[in-house]
Amino acid sequence: MKITILTTFPEMFAPLHTSILGRAEKAGLLAIREVNIRQYSKNKHHNTDDAPFGGGAGMVMLAQPIVDAMRDVQGENFSGRRIYLSPRGETLTQKKAEALAKEDELILLCGHYEGVDQRALDLCIDEEISIGDYVLTGGELAAMVLVDCVARLVPGVLGCEESAVTESFTSGLLEYPQYTRPREFEGLTVPEVLLNGNHAKIVDWQTHEALYITLRRRPEMAKAYLDGRKFTRHEKKVVDGVFERIRAEDDEAERAAEAADGKSADADDECTENQDI
Ligand code: ADE
Repeated sequence: MKITILTTFPEMFAPLHTSILGRAEKAGLLAIREVNIRQYSKNKHHNTDDAPFGGGAGMVMLAQPIVDAMRDVQGENFSGRRIYLSPRGETLTQKKAEALAKEDELILLCGHYEGVDQRALDLCIDEEISIGDYVLTGGELAAMVLVDCVARLVPGVLGCEESAVTESFTSGLLEYPQYTRPREFEGLTVPEVLLNGNHAKIVDWQTHEALYITLRRRPEMAKAYLDGRKFTRHEKKVVDGVFERIRAEDDEAERAAEAADGKSADADDECTENQDI
């Protein structure tokens, strides 16, 4: 997959060329290239921004260097996606990343300052993507997030040991807890079931833990997972076990809260009595 990033801060992208993505680049599975928009500026001082028409704070990125950079980079028969990273865009999800990973080529535009002249977007952007409901100082970090989560889905980028198949959001559940050596650390032990080599029991435990953590932290995600599946009798038992655990924990928490309420009511009474004295 070929990814070109149009930016005024190309030096920010060094992390994309290390670790797993760096290895994939060396293996020829990925080609990630940063292009400095400034080199396309026809302005006397190679400026890439100017004050907004209509007034207001900040500067707006000029259309000309962006459009020229985009045209130069995309060439004649471009058939990929041209994406502008922006808090106004559609929120990036795993599903979106999976769709983008099927493209041969992506061109990412990173904006800065108060935004980009709308005409640059109208002329050469296919879609806007946001990485979440918060505002960054520029699109560079957002582009890095997008590249990382899309590139790791390109076949061959992850080794077998880093497989993307069983992980959160792909399986529909958050990930179960993981442990490695030693068996005991600061008094905390590894769950016994993971040590006894019974693969079927280990899978049941992992499913139980994954469903449990998803129900606790992302109930809407757990609901989608449960609604969309048919369970065998055995799997149903595992699922029921999770609901039992949650019910027992919630009952216990309720009892503890009632006991604490009772205690504080007693304490209030004591205070009132004291005041009476
Ligand atoms: N640029 C600034 N904030 C952003 C965000 N949340 N997502 C994508 N690009 C951005």
